Amino acid sequence: MNIVGIETTCDETSFALVQDGEKILHEVTMSQILKHAPYGGVVPELGAREHVKNIEQLGEKFFQDIKNYPIDGVAVASKVGLPPAVQVGEAYAQGLAKALNVPLYPINHVVAHVWGVWIDSAFVEKPTFPFLGVIVSGGHTQLITFSSPTEFDIIGETKDDAIGEAFDKVASILGLPYPGGPEIERVSEKGDSHAVALPIPLEHEDTLDFSFAGLKTAVRTYVEKELPNQHETYKEYFIADVAASFQRVAFTHIAQKLEKAIAKTGAKQVVIGGGVAASQRLTDILYSYMHEKEIKVELFVPHRQYCTDNASVIAGYAFNLAAA
Ligand code: KG4
Ligand code: ZN
Repeated sequence: MNIVGIETTCDETSFALVQDGEKILHEVTMSQILKHAPYGGVVPELGAREHVKNIEQLGEKFFQDIKNYPIDGVAVASKVGLPPAVQVGEAYAQGLAKALNVPLYPINHVVAHVWGVWIDSAFVEKPTFPFLGVIVSGGHTQLITFSSPTEFDIIGETKDDAIGEAFDKVASILGLPYPGGPEIERVSEKGDSHAVALPIPLEHEDTLDFSFAGLKTAVRTYVEKELPNQHETYKEYFIADVAASFQRVAFTHIAQKLEKAIAKTGAKQVVIGGGVAASQRLTDILYSYMHEKEIKVELFVPHRQYCTDNASVIAGYAFNLAAA
């Protein structure tokens, strides 16, 4: 079964054709990051205008490329995202499904993020249900127990900012460009992750929820106080130290709550998804944390390109709805 996926929830316009939920036959993605970078974040109306422009152009190329394949359904990232941007994809997908006379599958793209592992051919062995999902994206931070692809429960989530949002805001505090996550990862390489004492959020609270707003404010307060005192030559190192310390604390917060969720659910497998999962540091910290605590769990993290928003996970995940 071949399903076309369409993704326009944030700053990527993406089309994919995926066979049987796992095999990517074709994918084309166009990023708007450079358009939004001057504003330090995604501007929804600007995004929608760009999607309208890109979707026609990209769609034309995509359908020319895949013209020899049969199409059995259309999946679109729906509901969750920046409303004006989401609507562009939804309208296009509705028209397409009608024209092709195939079913339309509206997909919750947050949940679909875990599907990055299935479409990533690097994983010969896929996770088996039930497993614990960890969503770390620009708009969401959630712990989800999946008993099947379509049956799941959110058991923990952020009470304020999402983790990716916190990375983007901290990057902006440090004068780094959007999107902030990859920038923080890059400059942290030169920093000391123990240089700045930042509190790990909700460390002593018996909850599976997350919080990043207080951590972000602690960074802001520290930077506003200390940055003006730094000699010009050392500013770069100061920024690297703050970025590395923030990154370590934010990821340790994820590791601690994941530890609690594993203890509570008895999960043997954990699947990570969402843009922040693209960070190699996150994977490193989770692995070493679980190792140190002797927690026996298998971690699945998709390849970078399947962590951030893309149409392949949308089409791949939709296969489960189509097959149900
Ligand atoms: O899943 P995604 O592409 O879009 C949403 O659904 O929100 O996630 C985007 C988020 C941004 O906040 C971006 O800064 C973050 O993912 N991100 C990273 C890295 N790469 C992307 N955060 C930390 N480290 C990275 N390497
Ligand atoms: Zn996403």
